Amino acid sequence: MSDSGTGGWQNEPFAVEVKAGETRAFCMCGQSKTGPFCDGSHVTTDKLPEVVTFDEDKTVYICGCQQSGNRPYCDGTHMTLSD
Ligand code: FES
Repeated sequence: MSDSGTGGWQNEPFAVEVKAGETRAFCMCGQSKTGPFCDGSHVTTDKLPEVVTFDEDKTVYICGCQQSGNRPYCDGTHMTLSD
């Protein structure tokens, strides 16, 4: 597996365990060194993180390839990528 050259990213989803009431900020600019989470790197871009507050304990599948049409969530697009 190769990554996009930016730390933390991968060509498959991240399974992230979240808790009810928990708020997480997911990187939408692709510059985070701690993908898929926001590390503030978007200040150099015109993008903002997707901030989500969850209402139940669950596992969410967060896009790691940055190509999903439903970011921050995986939509299966990674399965169509060549690397
Ligand atoms: S990791 Fe699945 S669409 Fe990006």
